[in-house]
Amino acid sequence: MFPAGRRTAVIGGVRTPFLKSGTLFEKMTAADLGAVAVKELVARTDLDPQTIDELIYGAVIPSVSRPNIAREVLFDAHLPDRIPASSVVMACATSNRAITDAAERIALNLADVVIAGGAECLSDVPILFSRDFARRLVRLSKAKTAAQKAKVFAGFRPGELAPVAPAIAEYTTGLSMGESAEKMAKENHISRAAQDELALGSHLKAAAGWDRGILAPEVVPVPVAPKFEEMATVDNIIRRDTTLAALAKLPPVFDRKFGTVTAGNSSPLTDGASAVLLMSEDRARAEGRKALAFIRSWAYSALDPGDQLLQGPAYAAPRALDRAGLKLSDMGRVEMHEAFAAQVLSNLQAFASKEFAREKLGRDQPVGEVDPEILNLYGGSIAIGHPFAATGARLVTTLSHELARSGEQFGLLTVCAAGGLGHAMVLERAE
Ligand SMILES: CC(C)(COP(=O)(O)OP(=O)(O)OC[C@H]1O[C@@H](n2cnc3c(N)ncnc32)[C@H](O)[C@@H]1OP(=O)(O)O)[C@@H](O)C(=O)NCCC(=O)NCCS
Repeated sequence: MFPAGRRTAVIGGVRTPFLKSGTLFEKMTAADLGAVAVKELVARTDLDPQTIDELIYGAVIPSVSRPNIAREVLFDAHLPDRIPASSVVMACATSNRAITDAAERIALNLADVVIAGGAECLSDVPILFSRDFARRLVRLSKAKTAAQKAKVFAGFRPGELAPVAPAIAEYTTGLSMGESAEKMAKENHISRAAQDELALGSHLKAAAGWDRGILAPEVVPVPVAPKFEEMATVDNIIRRDTTLAALAKLPPVFDRKFGTVTAGNSSPLTDGASAVLLMSEDRARAEGRKALAFIRSWAYSALDPGDQLLQGPAYAAPRALDRAGLKLSDMGRVEMHEAFAAQVLSNLQAFASKEFAREKLGRDQPVGEVDPEILNLYGGSIAIGHPFAATGARLVTTLSHELARSGEQFGLLTVCAAGGLGHAMVLERAE
């Protein structure tokens, strides 16, 4: 049995609408969005806030003024201030890490009730001064006399004032996520047509998910700061009218001459937050709660970022399945984070490849083919959006609800992340 110790039940999960950055959430922060998600999760699950043992939360882009986002979310959600709150970060697998940290605490009997999740507001990225200018400002704060202050600015060059914005790029290789997806498309021979087809499916399935009333119950309305007069209620990135022809017309972004990765087959820059309520099985039973699902197993993987950066799921999934004592063929649903269509298709190819199994995993048999009929049934990050730290808890929420709804017994979810990281988790329907 993995993990040793007590089982973790997923009791509930919510997310805010996921909005294209620079739109309605433009004046909000990740903590603002996280607080709405957490507060509403507590209300919807009818949870006594006094019973919460811990809040574990994360954001990938850090706030300079509020670095421990978990604590800020707790305060803004008006939860009791005696609840410890800690922040985690693991690139796009941040809320997955928060969730598995919570499950470890529960397994070890250190906690019974934990809220975990993540938020990202890419409309609110810290823009820094250059290191040279920042050093001058530090020296200025220490200077006492007018002469010392004047000396601080000796040799000043206007170029020092050029702002430094965070890049969505690997520090070690200098390649952006998009360039890395492009590299994967080329090395794995993933065609532009296949990428566009996956992107089209993502939009159409997400639109159907809303139309069929499946996604709405997971999404909490957000009063939009600063005036709080308008409510954000639905995702605004899904294009129900997109077509293969429209997608095919878009120019490649990351390799303009020979590339295949476009704005249409990439996940967009997104603002949003998510949160899940996790309980020990005993506590859930004692409270008479019906869990949506149980966490059966999980695994993390890591590879050289200079290799195929976003291939982590192909390494993590077989480990998570082994730990669950199950095979891919036992999975009734698969949720795969779509950073880029090229990344999803590369991972699916690796899942099915005997060569990959032998050479990269040291296994005789590949993980297997994922049936497209069970993959990302209500769209993925390309259509729904990808607020980095919020995506993992979105996947756990959607998959847990889907297991409860469909009666399927097992589901697999996977996440690729910057740094060459990967995550996979197996969920089990609650009996
Ligand atoms: C790819 C990226 C650079 C595109 O950014 P952008 O140029 O602001 O994207 P836009 O939404 O403006 O789309 C560009 C154009 O494509 C069009 N478009 C995008 N998706 C489309 C679709 N599905 N169907 C039709 N047209 C589409 C837009 O309408 C827009 O057209 P316009 O220029 O005529 O207005 C950006 O989304 C990005 O960086 N994504 C990757 C994020 C990332 O690295 N995440 C980490 C993952 S691990």
